[in-house]
Amino acid sequence: MSAPNVDVSQNGNIRTIDSLFTVAEFDESDFSRLLDRPRPLNMERQRSFDERSLNELSIGMSPPPPSRTAEYSCRINDHLENMFSPGRRSGYNTPRSHMGFEPHPMVAEAWEALRRSLVHFRGLPVGTIAALDNSDEKLNYDQVFVRDFVPSALAFLMNGEPEIVRNFLLKTLRLQSWEKKIDRFQLGEGVMPASFKVLHDPIRNSETLIADFGESAIGRVAPVDSGFWWIILLRAYTKSTGDTSLAELPECQKGMRLILSLCLSEGFDTFPTLLCADGCCMIDRRMGVYGYPIEIQALFFMALRCALVLLKQDVEGKEVVERIVKRLHALSYHMRSYFWLDLKQLNDIYRYKTEEYSHTAVNKFNVIPDSLPDWVFDFMPIRGGYFIGNVSPARMDFRWFCLGNCIAILSSLATPEQSTAIMDLIESRWEELVGEMPLKVCYPALESHDWRIVTGSDPKNTRWSYHNGGSWPVLLWLLTAACIKTGRPQIARRAIELAETRLLKDNWPEYYDGTLGRFIGKQARKSQTWSIAGYLVAKMMLEDPSHLGMISLEEDKQMKPVLRRSNSWTF
Ligand code: GLC
Repeated sequence: MSAPNVDVSQNGNIRTIDSLFTVAEFDESDFSRLLDRPRPLNMERQRSFDERSLNELSIGMSPPPPSRTAEYSCRINDHLENMFSPGRRSGYNTPRSHMGFEPHPMVAEAWEALRRSLVHFRGLPVGTIAALDNSDEKLNYDQVFVRDFVPSALAFLMNGEPEIVRNFLLKTLRLQSWEKKIDRFQLGEGVMPASFKVLHDPIRNSETLIADFGESAIGRVAPVDSGFWWIILLRAYTKSTGDTSLAELPECQKGMRLILSLCLSEGFDTFPTLLCADGCCMIDRRMGVYGYPIEIQALFFMALRCALVLLKQDVEGKEVVERIVKRLHALSYHMRSYFWLDLKQLNDIYRYKTEEYSHTAVNKFNVIPDSLPDWVFDFMPIRGGYFIGNVSPARMDFRWFCLGNCIAILSSLATPEQSTAIMDLIESRWEELVGEMPLKVCYPALESHDWRIVTGSDPKNTRWSYHNGGSWPVLLWLLTAACIKTGRPQIARRAIELAETRLLKDNWPEYYDGTLGRFIGKQARKSQTWSIAGYLVAKMMLEDPSHLGMISLEEDKQMKPVLRRSNSWTF
């Protein structure tokens, strides 16, 4: 599908584009390949699609002077953000890559496996099944999970096949309007399902959908991430196809407003972060991530930024947009200040005074230095840093979580300095975080007493398994995207090469176990779709970094970074 050579500006006016994008300079030879490619004419339109940002919506703050590294990755990002190249590219149907390289033999196998996982509803493809593994009890792996579909959707978009993504977005939107009850309690209108499945009635020859909003899920928790992923995917679809008509549909506009009104409502909160129950995200069972988990905060931030460009400024939209702008400012300040940890910050916490009262308190949440775990002193490199797992009164969860940190980079919740520091940490803690199979979902694992108390003695989440320090191949796409965004593609290449030594041979496991990720997970499903799609997305992005634009947001220069002390290269 090719997009028209027009610019749809924010107020819906259409004008033709006659100017070409000026290409930024690149130092990396990998990126220089981009410069030789014909540049599409509609980049300007893509730019204006994303341009509505906080600067346009008041709150004047002066941008900080960027460091050299930050400037470098900004240049790459500006470039990648503006690249637009729709159409069928690589993969199963075009085994020879457009760059003229011979694709890895696994790529064709992965495309075949991904296509086998397609789920149809009344003749239309609407999603991909979580795992096509018939050897094990199905549980709910025969469903289409919203979060699991994201890498599949990106693979299809990158391959110029947006229809399935459109169908998925519209189908799940319909499900959102269902009445959702757990026992006698009704959930909020905006909640999106964790998953759905198609029921075939062979007698009546009909098909119906069944959705799970948490009422069947283990622990009976509603997925907080689904709605955020839905908005993020709507932007990816719009950005990739140039088709703004889907997002402009009144039902899509309403869907976004409903999702956001669940999170923007006023209550007893004193923090701009979102209070959550354990198990409400990718880690969907008890793992001590209740409170303010980084995964949800980063997705929340990204969804807010995506909604800002997708919402119409009509009577209903305008009010939501105003609330989004306010929340984004507070949220970015809170996250960058209180969730960020590097050597300097660690040392500050180590020396914290406690029992401070009033506005002058430095240790605002009364974190007791004795609660610092031993491992964090060894884990923290001299150069590097990360957003910790959780911050709430007297509680900092110092665990490193992959998804939240990668999304922080992609959404520009992390400042350019923080993004570089996160990549520095991944590089210097390679053995711990990547080992023999990318990539740890979190680090480190909870063991013995901690495991008993925090997981409730969960036999699936034993140390270095599943959500408790297991290695999840799906995270490869997030790592790759973060690498490209920060100008470090060589890190992604290293991780992909590791995955290529085993993934196909092992039949695409859901996760690996052990401190190095050497063993196929205890109860890991095989033919796990997001392991397959994650690999494809990583490969396609590395081959053509312009794909990054659909899942990455430029730094909003109006959102002032607050932690100048945390630059990893000042050491
Ligand atoms: C597991 C994962 C969850 C995923 C689901 C389907 O429950 O924890 O994140 O969505 O499997 O693959």
